[in-house]
Amino acid sequence: MAAVNDSKPRVLSGIQPSGNLTIGNYLGALKQWVEVQHDYDCFYCVVDLHAITVPQDPAELRQRTRESAAMYIAAGIDPELSTIFVQSHVPAHSELAWMLTCMAPIGWLHRMTQFKDRTAKQTQESIGAGLLNYPSLMAADILLYHADLVPVGDDQNQHLEFTRDLAQRFNHLYGETFTLPTVMNPQAGARIMGLDNPTAKMSKSEASENHAVFLLDDLSRARKKIMRAVTDSHREICFSEEPERAGVNNLLTIYQAISGKSNAAIEAHFAGKGYGDLKRETADCVLSTLEPLQARYYELMNEAGYLDSVLRLGREKASAIADETLKLAQERMGFLAPS
Ligand code: TRP
Repeated sequence: MAAVNDSKPRVLSGIQPSGNLTIGNYLGALKQWVEVQHDYDCFYCVVDLHAITVPQDPAELRQRTRESAAMYIAAGIDPELSTIFVQSHVPAHSELAWMLTCMAPIGWLHRMTQFKDRTAKQTQESIGAGLLNYPSLMAADILLYHADLVPVGDDQNQHLEFTRDLAQRFNHLYGETFTLPTVMNPQAGARIMGLDNPTAKMSKSEASENHAVFLLDDLSRARKKIMRAVTDSHREICFSEEPERAGVNNLLTIYQAISGKSNAAIEAHFAGKGYGDLKRETADCVLSTLEPLQARYYELMNEAGYLDSVLRLGREKASAIADETLKLAQERMGFLAPS
């Protein structure tokens, strides 16, 4: 078992295996996870327990959990540097989540915008209680590892605030137990929007054909989706907060997140060019990312046993830390230790 490096600040993050990963997941999360892994002690989990807050097909969930883990590696997360694991493989997540659920004021949970958005169109009878308690499970994920930093898209900032508030509440009631985590939003590409509807975040579970570029889309299909992206009737190619210009802004954001160039350099580059050029060059950028990523992914999926061995080691490393934190929290809360 590789030694866990205690001297570096710790990072933890996760993505749900609830759909195929998109370039939004890559640019808004995975890319940053890869970048920080040299400087921090990183834990990256596939959050299957979060995925079941909405109904999942069992066979599909199992398959997607494997695929997500492979995608983490294909995107550049190095199992020698970072700990990659499946959330449900470490039962401490469920156990601490319950303890935190019992301390989480329902009022706080009802104020979560993600909960409000996800349940807006449903009747109470069809909403599982897990959707309301979702943030307590996420808090458990983070607090079990004493994570210092949590890289997430800015749509998760409220859940991070919730985690801090809950940790503070626990520490206040039972004594200093948890580290308060800090959110880390990526500079560019935190929020990639839907190509067909640039005012809504790109989602892996949105059904419409031209909404998202999936990391495993074949390259010609990925290009087609970008060429069909919604723009506007203006001409000038510039970054803009105007809702009306959200489509062009989104393409520029994608271009920037991949190229790493400054806004000014990008605007200068596209000065006098048309939307066709913007789309073509953005597609070139995206394809140059997808191509090597897909090659690595298929290699991994065909390499029998390798992925399992990564997840086994990840589970061991994660459990060692999580179990210890859970034990401390149980002791603090007054559970009788088994003899
Ligand atoms: N809620 C996060 C999302 O939808 C996923 C997640 C679950 C997560 N547990 C986490 C992210 C812990 C960071 C840390 O993006």
